[in-house]
Amino acid sequence: MRGDVNTIKERLDIAEVVSGYVKLEKAGAGLKARCPFHNEKTPSFFVSPTRQNFYCFGCGAKGDIFTFVEQVEGLEFRDALRLLAEKAGVELDYQRGESRTEKDNVLEVLEKATLFFEKELAKSKLARSYITSRGISNATVKSWRIGYAPDDWRLLFSYLQDMGYDKEIITKAGLIKTSETSANKEPYDVFRDRIIFPLADSNGRIIAFSGRALSKETEPKYLNSPDTIVFTKSEVLYGLDKAKEYIRKQNYAVLVEGQMDLVTSHQAGINNTVATSGTAFSRAHLERLKHLSTRIILAFDGDSAGEKATEKASILGVSLGFEVKVASLPEGLDPAEVASKKPEEWKNILRQSLPAVEFFFNTVQGQEKDSRKLGKQIEKKILPMIKLTKSAIEQSYYISLIAKRTGIKEEILWEDLRKAVAPSVNLQGQTYVEDVNTKKDDDVIQKSYQEVIEERLTEVRLWLKDLSDSAPEIALLKKEEAELKNNLSGVILRDELNNLLSELSQAELSKNNKLIEKLTARIRELHGQIRALEEKKKIL
Ligand code: CTP
Ligand code: MN
Repeated sequence: MRGDVNTIKERLDIAEVVSGYVKLEKAGAGLKARCPFHNEKTPSFFVSPTRQNFYCFGCGAKGDIFTFVEQVEGLEFRDALRLLAEKAGVELDYQRGESRTEKDNVLEVLEKATLFFEKELAKSKLARSYITSRGISNATVKSWRIGYAPDDWRLLFSYLQDMGYDKEIITKAGLIKTSETSANKEPYDVFRDRIIFPLADSNGRIIAFSGRALSKETEPKYLNSPDTIVFTKSEVLYGLDKAKEYIRKQNYAVLVEGQMDLVTSHQAGINNTVATSGTAFSRAHLERLKHLSTRIILAFDGDSAGEKATEKASILGVSLGFEVKVASLPEGLDPAEVASKKPEEWKNILRQSLPAVEFFFNTVQGQEKDSRKLGKQIEKKILPMIKLTKSAIEQSYYISLIAKRTGIKEEILWEDLRKAVAPSVNLQGQTYVEDVNTKKDDDVIQKSYQEVIEERLTEVRLWLKDLSDSAPEIALLKKEEAELKNNLSGVILRDELNNLLSELSQAELSKNNKLIEKLTARIRELHGQIRALEEKKKIL
């Protein structure tokens, strides 16, 4: 593998690879373009042929040809490797002598089944009228390849057998099963009398199905394919294959719960929507999105289950370094109802989504009229979430917001924030309270704000070195450098401030007046310096 990677790097030039996606212009010793990873009018995406890497000053995206292709195509490393190998004319180690795998056969059967379900939908008046009644258009049916599994025990099974596929491979595709208890050992179709939503991998290949019962009496309402060699239920994001390029371009993803929510949201023009489809929102889902964007809007059902799911997902998202916003659904409604009946209102709801902390603060404030109880709730629910954000700038934004809207002094909120314990999440997505002293792996994933700034500063300085003195980008980069330096000072000052505040409470406990005086003076000084920096930021 290592050998393959190196050969590919030798044969391909980063400028050539990148120019397949964006238009590059000369910039000093390097090249620049409008960044493919976020929306921008003036280029801040730089490519260095000497270092064979790229860097965007706007969004911080960076890496080599492999990272670039992973991110721009929304691929896993393995698939990016395959794509670049083809481009470089390199035959990969593991491809030599590779024959048709069982996986290929399963995928082929699933594709044939998809075509079957599509044809059956065209034949069934009843199924089509159900779909129409849910506000789904013909174009949506076609683009999402929505189908229908007829009310019959073995129609699909015999259809596939007639095409030459054997029982074993159809079973492995999760399309038929054999009863353990009944005397009849003849396999039967898993999906019967259901509207079929094919689930695709990120390349658009069908890997499983989700079937919605037509009648209200049928249980379960949704039936999913079992896990197979091509499908892991808890990891799949419905719609990702179509949404990925929009998520990348718009630099955020909208997350909904169900299949209906997903297809109607796309129908309403929100093409960067994906759905978890029946499993709880998990770390695995976020790992898939991370390559595309680290900004998400959660739009779950407007009921208590939806609100619980939102809270869990917010904590998970924020702790993995995502910028999480929450959309407020009208009580009792789900995205599908709004998006199918009033697409414009759906867009408005998303536009009005709020940062998770603010959303939960509003909820708490709406529930608690008594100011003492409100204070307790803020301490219990909101401060731990703020603690989770880790970014000093964001923390101070929320602290001043809460101070303004409750009348609680900022100093007191900072002090309580220092004592607050960030909620954490385990791999299954359940919350538990972390031991503050143990370093959890989330810390490894999420770089501190300070580290991010320092990294960017290094990059800016490297670029400045590459450019000739007359290059037009110099001004842009100098400005960037000044801003970064300013932010860095801010973070360092905040850090000191936090430490001093805790020293201060120690000193107060031990009634050490001399020390209290000294600390208070320095704290006041720090506040002044932080304020001065904020002012300077406005000028920059
Ligand atoms: N789900 C499931 N199994 C069920 C019920 C739900 O897998 N028995 C999943 C489906 O992906 C569903 C999602 O959970 O879309 C949300 O469930 P729910 O809100 O109950 O369904 P809706 O999306 O509202 O479905 P519909 O609009 O068709 O009633
Ligand atoms: Mn719903």
